Formats: sequence, structure tokens, C-alpha cells
Amino acid sequence: MTITSNPAEDRAADSGILSFPMDRAAGCPFDPPPRLQAQQQEEPLSRVRIWDGSTPWFVTRHADQRALLGDPRVSADATRPGYPRSAPSNGRNNISFILMDDPEHARLRRMVTGSFAVKRVQAMRPAVQKIVDDLIEEMLAGPNPVDLVQAFALPVPSLVICELLGVPYDDHDFFQRNSSALVKQSLSVEERTAAHGALLTYLDDLMGEKLAHPADDLLSSLVTRVKDGELSRNEAAQMGVLLLLAGHETTANMIALGTVALLEHPDQLARLRDTDDPKAIAAAVEELLRYLNVTHSGRRRVALEDIEVAGEVIRAGEGIVFPNEIANRDAEVFTDPDHLDLGRDARRHVAFGFGVHQCLGQPLARLELQVVYSTLYRRVPTLRLATEAEKLPYKHDGAVYGVYELPVAW
Ligand code: HEM
Repeated sequence: MTITSNPAEDRAADSGILSFPMDRAAGCPFDPPPRLQAQQQEEPLSRVRIWDGSTPWFVTRHADQRALLGDPRVSADATRPGYPRSAPSNGRNNISFILMDDPEHARLRRMVTGSFAVKRVQAMRPAVQKIVDDLIEEMLAGPNPVDLVQAFALPVPSLVICELLGVPYDDHDFFQRNSSALVKQSLSVEERTAAHGALLTYLDDLMGEKLAHPADDLLSSLVTRVKDGELSRNEAAQMGVLLLLAGHETTANMIALGTVALLEHPDQLARLRDTDDPKAIAAAVEELLRYLNVTHSGRRRVALEDIEVAGEVIRAGEGIVFPNEIANRDAEVFTDPDHLDLGRDARRHVAFGFGVHQCLGQPLARLELQVVYSTLYRRVPTLRLATEAEKLPYKHDGAVYGVYELPVAW
């Protein structure tokens, strides 16, 4: 868990401005960096220095984050000057509507919302349960110990999103490797652009095949819109990349990191294992989302107009960073926030973001996590870490937090 110092951090130390991302190395692997916690209490609206030396606003309180993320005067358009990017970019690896504003964002998002509606997703429960059951059986029949990331955490959401989109799961090595590279901020711009280009070409080829042989899947429905002139082929392929990437990276990290957190909190794990009440399981999922908040590099936005907030004025053109992990530990909203309590009502968390860009796939993510967390530890009651939690390779360098590997035994 060593984090190398960087020049921006050193400069920041000189000027008294904190740098972001912050080091969580010394603290608990599930908690936001200790400095971030202090910042929320001492100076909830401040400036931070990011990798390029710029100093966007830094909003740490839950109420302020929700107010600003829900404000149409705040833009998610990464091509605007002042937008605080999380890593160097050549502007060629922006993926679809997550980095666009309305009305363009809404136009594209609307085309896929039906597939992620709660009712449609709930109908997938038996299929998701079968995927989970089969993978557990396969794992139990294989070597022990095993890496839970490769054997289970990555395959579950990958199989589900492949089924929904109509992507052949046989290609999983290719798309998992490139998706992981695309969000790995320690890679060079060229490496991330190459990963994006490979995924884009792959999705475009797949759409060509769907054009010739349409099926009952989401990519085929996008291809129909291309044929009808509602969408360009490039827009459709970009959307495919976004859905494929977002559909497996985040959930896979929640499955693996959630397992570490539960194994390190046996009282909470026992609570989950001993219930088959769907409401209790759903509540446990919300609490794990709140507590772990895997999208730890912060939401990023730029102000379109002057905005007054918490006694300060954010000027038009100034960047804003929202570390949602710390908003999820705001004592104003969650009692004893650093405590993992599967019985609490955590529904106000911002692990799925807030405002118009709030996670499109949240019903699907919830379903997958509910099925996983209510099945894995019951079916494998002796599941344990095959190494110490402190020694696991945590993902400090990605847009999504988690573990690269998770050796488990039973
Ligand atoms: C536990 C799993 C997940 C977490 C923690 C998560 C988190 C997030 C967050 C924080 C955002 C907001 C980004 C922003 O405001 O800048 C977001 C957006 C998004 N997520 Fe998820 N996500 C998860 C699973 C999924 C799944 C399964 C899909 C399925 C395809 C998905 C698709 C998307 C899409 C398309 C957006 C962009 C929405 C928009 O810009 O309108 N996510 N997600």
C-alpha cells in the first residue's frame, strides 16, 4: 500500500493547498484518506491541487455535493476549459454521455434507460442467480485457494452485461483487460487511448454483425436506431463502450472489496448470512455501497455560471471535484459513519452519484450485489482470506477502488 510521492503533492505542501487524490496508505483500507476526513470537518469547501497543478474547488459535505451535482449550472462536459480531469488526456478517450450535458446527454441516455428500468432488471433475477450459483460450483470444484477476482467477482457482472448487451463472453479477456487499462490513471495517455480505441473498434465490429444478424439484445436495438437515423454509428459504438465498461468494472470491485470488508467484520457477515429477508439483504447492499464507495476518484464538474455555495462563490469556468467517498461518511447524515452497520438505512448515500448523471445501471448493480452477497457466504460458509487483509494489492491507481487480486480459501 505504498504510494509514491508526486511533484504536485510536494508543491501543494509548500502552498498549503492539499493535493488530490490523497494517500490512504496509512489508514484502514476501507476508509477514505484520514486527511479527507479532517478536511470535511475543518474546511468543507476548499481548493485542492490536482495532477496538472490546477486548483479546482473541493466539496466534501454531503448536502453541498447533492446541491451542486443537482444544479444545471454545473457541467460534466470534459471538453470545457477548467474541467478538472482526473488524469492527462488527449481528448480522444471520452466515453459517451457520462461526459456530456443535457440535452445531448438526455437524448442518448433515454435510448438505453428502458433496459435498466427496475422492472426489466428484476426479471433478470433468476438468470443472475443461475450465473452466481454456477460460478460458485465451478469455483468449489477447482483449486483451493483461488483468486476470487478472477474466479467470481469479474465473471459475475461480465456475464450479466454480456447477456444484456449481446457481447460474446468468450471475448472477456480482451474487454476486461482494455476496460481495466482505460480507467487506470497511472497508465500513459497513449496506453489509455489505445485501450479505448481497441474497445471502440471491437464494439463497432460487433454492431456491424448485429446489423446483418439482429438479436434480442441492447446492441441490436442501438443498431436499429442507427438504421433509423436517430444515432450515428460512432455514437452507438461509444455508448457500447460505456455500458460494457461501467457494467462490469465497478460491480466487480464491489463484489471483491465487499467480500474483504465482510470477512474483516465477522459480526456483520454473520448478520447477512443468517437472513433471507430481501429487505435486510437490500439494506446490507446499500450500506456496503456507502461504506466502500468504490468510485473513489471523485465526480468531476465545471461551473457554467457563478454559483454561491457554503458562503463562497464558485466562478464560471472553475473546476469542482466531489469526493463522494467522504460525503458517504458525513456525520450530519449517517450516525457513526465510519462504522459498517448492515442494519442501518444507508439509502441517502451518493455511491451512485447524484443528479442527472446518477448511475444508469444502479438497479442492475443492486440486483447483482443482492444475489451475490446473499448466496456466496451461505454456500461457502468457511470462506476466508488466504492472506492478511493489509497485504492485499489495493487499487490506489484506478478510477475505481478495489483489489487487483483476492486469494481466498474455504
Ligand atoms: C456497484 C456498481 C456501480 C457503481 C458504484 C457505479 C457508480 C456510478 C457513479 C458514481 C456514476 C456517476 C458518474 C458521474 O456523476 O460523473 C455512474 C454513472 C453511470 N453508470 Fe454506474 N455504477 C455501478 C454500476 C453500473 C452498472 C452495472 C452499469 C451498467 C451499464 C452502470 C452504468 C453507468 C452509466 C451508463 C453511467 C453514466 C450515467 C450518465 O452519465 O447519465 N453502472 N455510476
